Amino acid sequence: MLDKLDDNEQTESFINKNKRPQRFFERHFKHARAANAEFLKGQDDSSRSFNYTYKPARFEEWWLLESIGDFYEHKLISDVLRRLKGGKEASVYLCRGTESTDALVTAKVYRPRSLRNLKNDGIYRTGRIDLGEDGKKLFKEADVNAIIKRTAYGEELRHASWIAYEFNTLEILHAAGADVPKPYGMEKNAILMEYIGDADLAAPTLNAVTLDRDEARILFDRVICNLDLLLTSNRIHADLSAYNILYWDGDITLIDFPQVVDPEANPSAWVIFLRDVTRVCQYFCSQGVKCDARKLAADLWISHGHKVVQEVHPSHLDAEKKEDRRLWEKQKSVAK
Ligand SMILES: Nc1ncnc2c1ncn2[C@@H]1O[C@H](COP(=O)(O)OP(=O)(O)OP(=O)(O)O)[C@@H](O)[C@H]1O
Ligand SMILES: [Mg+2]
Repeated sequence: MLDKLDDNEQTESFINKNKRPQRFFERHFKHARAANAEFLKGQDDSSRSFNYTYKPARFEEWWLLESIGDFYEHKLISDVLRRLKGGKEASVYLCRGTESTDALVTAKVYRPRSLRNLKNDGIYRTGRIDLGEDGKKLFKEADVNAIIKRTAYGEELRHASWIAYEFNTLEILHAAGADVPKPYGMEKNAILMEYIGDADLAAPTLNAVTLDRDEARILFDRVICNLDLLLTSNRIHADLSAYNILYWDGDITLIDFPQVVDPEANPSAWVIFLRDVTRVCQYFCSQGVKCDARKLAADLWISHGHKVVQEVHPSHLDAEKKEDRRLWEKQKSVAK
């Protein structure tokens, strides 16, 4: 349903990609706006009573209300204060909580499926059982087949499963004592979790922080403890780097889990795990910590009863990412 909405980020990229005369865009937007207006007319109006401080852009408004209106209805949030970040996959909002949550909470709202710049998720999904909107395993044959056949309905289910994996993982890891935000709720397109930061400033990601060597060592050990805990919980983060670790008040918090991988069920598990450890080591090496990523990864991996199989395959690396290019160069030099 959300796929029918136009949105301004998409509009911008549309303009950049299409060097056409102004008249053409005016016509395109006129049609898009008319289609949106038509679409909104038919929608249930209940969540519209939710008045919040944040002023969303025109085409973001419906999507936001549709995604987090239920958090408001269920008394988990009382206001949306501002947008913290608009990412490729999701936008993250700072919300005022209620007595059931915290004073401030974070809503991660996934972009509508058709507007998302989905990572090639096949490698992460291998070996995992899809989850439904309720977070439970999908068992109906028709649903499972729809996902395999990639019908429109199947794609909706796949989108919901991706989000459910993030929430479900936060629940499991938080209960296990890992350094992750406390999860508060999940709706079909959004998750609500603990906010890391204060009223003025959200916690920065670790890549933007310079640590002194002693603190770096302490935090590095902490991240490794978390990796160990993840393996104990049968999870590999699968997109871990200093970009997905928050730093606040001398502590770290791991975030961004939709792509988690099962170390036993995914045939690429070891290479994905090695990539996570390598990216973490790259950051901490730059902060003065001496570490051998491969040895560390192998020790952790073997201590959990798994077998080391092969190096990171180039198809698992992202040529756009500096750290992945460095890793590839390093692998090649080790192989010589
Ligand atoms: N619980 C939180 N507390 C404070 N800030 C958060 C929280 N969760 C996410 N953020 C902020 O939102 C950003 C995006 O979150 P996340 O990495 O989960 O989404 P994403 O769509 O994968 O984004 P990206 O494509 O940038 O990785 C984070 O880098 C961080 O700045
Ligand atoms: Mg991220």
